[in-house]
Amino acid sequence: MTTASSPSPSPSPVPVAVLVSGGGTNLQALLDAFHGSTLARIARVVSSRDGAGALERARRAGVPTVVLRDPDDADELVRALGDARLAVLAGYLKRVPPAAVARFRWRLINIHPALLPDFGGRGMYGRRVHEAVLSSGAQVSGATVHYVDEEFDRGPIIAQWPVPVRAGDTPESLAARVLEVEHRLLPLVVQELARQGVPGKPVKVSVQQPNFDGTTE
Ligand code: GRF
Repeated sequence: MTTASSPSPSPSPVPVAVLVSGGGTNLQALLDAFHGSTLARIARVVSSRDGAGALERARRAGVPTVVLRDPDDADELVRALGDARLAVLAGYLKRVPPAAVARFRWRLINIHPALLPDFGGRGMYGRRVHEAVLSSGAQVSGATVHYVDEEFDRGPIIAQWPVPVRAGDTPESLAARVLEVEHRLLPLVVQELARQGVPGKPVKVSVQQPNFDGTTE
């Protein structure tokens, strides 16, 4: 029992699972941000394919990894997520089966490299997103973190961060500028959700809007 004079026990960090398919730079940003944190810990990394660079990052950080045999198998996916309170899609290219979405309702989030609801949906990933932004003539792109529901890139938005499109941008140069922001936005959102105890309903997280030169004053 805690008495008035004894310090209250600090709550244990929220276990977070990260789902990946690729190189895992967003995973790395999370590993770095929560190393030694009392708020959240990256408890496991689940990959849709063997050989994803992200797996190596997880191993280097001493985080257990699982490679899914069948990413369409909801039971296998839910088992792989184990005791995670929050699951983060960070470059995960498979559709999460609806039964797994239902089990993790409002506890499953994704990062997308554009300002949703534009430039999202089935087939909109990687280079294609940035190509579409450039050919639309949009002057601002950005990063979005949102809840995962049964539709690709359609769940409620948690936070967005704008990024300028510059004259002469290529899909690669724009992707690199957006990715830098992703690496800041995703840990901020995870931190805030963890701080709030991973609420069982959709929330919005406001992040300090940066200036377009990358500063936040
Ligand atoms: C990121 O641009 C993310 O927004 C998208 O896939 C990319 C993953 O990159 N969903 P990485 O594997 O985290 O480096």
